[in-house]
Amino acid sequence: MTKIELYAQLLPQITSLLQGETDPVANMANLAAVLYHNLQQINWAGFYVRREDELVLGPFQGKPACVRLKRRHGVCWAAVEKRETLIVPDVHTFAGHIACDSASQSEIVVPILKGTEVWGVLDIDSPVKARFDETDQAFLEQTVNIFVTATFARSKQI
Ligand code: SME
Repeated sequence: MTKIELYAQLLPQITSLLQGETDPVANMANLAAVLYHNLQQINWAGFYVRREDELVLGPFQGKPACVRLKRRHGVCWAAVEKRETLIVPDVHTFAGHIACDSASQSEIVVPILKGTEVWGVLDIDSPVKARFDETDQAFLEQTVNIFVTATFARSKQI
């Protein structure tokens, strides 16, 4: 199965998994599990939630990770500041990268917007260099859109 075929299969599964549930922890937990168990060549998949000047660890699958990421440090915060998906083909060449698992070689971080605010990020690590491309970006951005719609659509803040 190609990556495009896999992602085409996963998107409807993700939509039905999150449909009708608005609890962010439950939805992040199920998403982390679906991504970790279906994507190839990854060693960590999970969330950080923004709490003012820190990103705090949310539901994830993989080895235990850094709990609090300080502003202006690392890949996750860079994606928050840019408000754009960040693909890092080689984490060793990214100044300030925070290594939670020494196996990680490449990383993708997708910001999660609630209204106009960056609410958190989806972070995925791979033990393989240059693991993530535009196809992964498109799939993960759609995944985050499904999460935002399910979790926040009925919120008054959006
Ligand atoms: N590498 C991230 C930290 C989180 S771990 O990858 C799970 C960063 O540099 O922000």
